Amino acid sequence: MRVVVSVGGSVLAPDLAHERVEQYADVIDQLVDAGCSVGVVVGGGGVARDYIKTARDLGANEIELDDIGISVTRLNAQLLIAALGDDAAPSPAESYEEAGEAIRRGDVAIMGGVTAGQTTDAVSAALAEYTNADLLVYATSVPGVFSADPKTDDSAERYDRITPGELVDAIADIEMSAGSSAPVDLLAAKLIERSRVRAIVLDGTEPTAVLDAVLRGEHDGTDIVPDGSEAGMDYWAEGE
Ligand code: UTP
Repeated sequence: MRVVVSVGGSVLAPDLAHERVEQYADVIDQLVDAGCSVGVVVGGGGVARDYIKTARDLGANEIELDDIGISVTRLNAQLLIAALGDDAAPSPAESYEEAGEAIRRGDVAIMGGVTAGQTTDAVSAALAEYTNADLLVYATSVPGVFSADPKTDDSAERYDRITPGELVDAIADIEMSAGSSAPVDLLAAKLIERSRVRAIVLDGTEPTAVLDAVLRGEHDGTDIVPDGSEAGMDYWAEGE
């Protein structure tokens, strides 16, 4: 089974403590041991936001800010590479092609951002599409997809399972309200819809949540399942 895991920067390195990065590397090793081929896309987190804010105050334009964000995602990716040692290529892949080659070689492919004007949510969905992944897991700081922004709306309910079309609608609604944070962005949702890749959005604060979701189909997040695809849990146990 091929899996792409999207790890938010604030999930991988909330305070730059090495323990969380080691735990994620351990989870990736266990996925590989279980027979999965793995691609990981790492986000920028609070460090990216801090850099972007300072650069914006200095007058940088939006493309320059995106390039700074991409640099930070790659720095975070290098932390994961340091923890994985020989199991990963020595530097973050800078294109989908490079990441695909790493996977074909049998390495874990690690990458950050790719190009200005998007976020690593979309990179993850594109990598899943490019590598024909069986599963895409978003390990975020939000525990799933909600009917509204749970931070601002008490009536927000978490969906256990939705279709990609419903994901697009839910994200579009959430993004309409200023300042709200969607679990994945709209471009990512549209790529998921287009590629029909099966996806999960879950709280990645505890890295083993990714393992339980991939290997056993057990998680407290949201399953995104295209219409007409088999929902049985046997799928997860195949390991290949
Ligand atoms: P993130 O993917 O971490 O963005 O990339 P985010 O969604 O704002 O972060 P979280 O999920 O809340 O932690 C950080 C920044 O890097 C740039 C964007 O400016 C983004 O906000 N970036 C990233 C790109 O321009 N292109 C990419 O492919 C990836």
